[in-house]
Amino acid sequence: MEDQAQAGKRAAAKRAVDERIRDNQVVGIGSGTTIVSAVERLVERVRDEKLSVVCIPTSFQARQLILENKLPLGTLEQYPQLDVAIDGADEVDAHLNLIKGGGGCLTQEKIIASCAKEFYVIADDRKDTAKLGTYWKKGVPIEVVPMAYRPVQLKIQQQLGGKTELRMAHRKAGPIVTDNGNFIIDWMFDGTPDWVEADRKLHCIPGVLETGLFLNMAKAAYFGTSDGNVSVRI
Ligand code: A5P
Repeated sequence: MEDQAQAGKRAAAKRAVDERIRDNQVVGIGSGTTIVSAVERLVERVRDEKLSVVCIPTSFQARQLILENKLPLGTLEQYPQLDVAIDGADEVDAHLNLIKGGGGCLTQEKIIASCAKEFYVIADDRKDTAKLGTYWKKGVPIEVVPMAYRPVQLKIQQQLGGKTELRMAHRKAGPIVTDNGNFIIDWMFDGTPDWVEADRKLHCIPGVLETGLFLNMAKAAYFGTSDGNVSVRI
């Protein structure tokens, strides 16, 4: 099962990198497992086609990936405008709205995506659904300032309903800490919220840094299947 998903991720990543990354571009590199395949393909293209790119990371993991693969690393200070950004997602709905942040990297991912002229999503086809919450059952990740996590949880429940959980670390007693030194709250929403309105309300709660709702940002999503086929939603 895991291998099938991996094949889908690899197929989607290859197709997106081949179609969307061109010579002399500044490229945002997302986080998670799917992006690893995209970086592998980018490395092949740099080697074989002598492609010249600068890569801007969305996380500690992405930075490590770029460095380990000896791709040119850049920062937003040097390149505040990117040509293209590629990233995975936890789920993609019929309107190209995304849930992201399953790996805890949503804030930098959203900043990078917002700075790119074009933002593309790569995923295995399990994540391609009509509405958010069909596949990804862990809720919307929300990055919060640590001292505010309890009031933020209460306010989310009061203002938007559903349930919230402070995301805990696996091999440490305590919450996970993001690359920005913050906590993650997962909001298990009820039903199908109006996502734009929900995102607006979440951003109005003091202590919320960013949400894992990526609305109207992706230009296209590439979904790979276990047999290597890829469908593209624009
Ligand atoms: C990282 O926090 C996330 O936003 C990832 O981009 C997302 O969870 C997709 O990860 P996978 O490619 O590992 O499924």
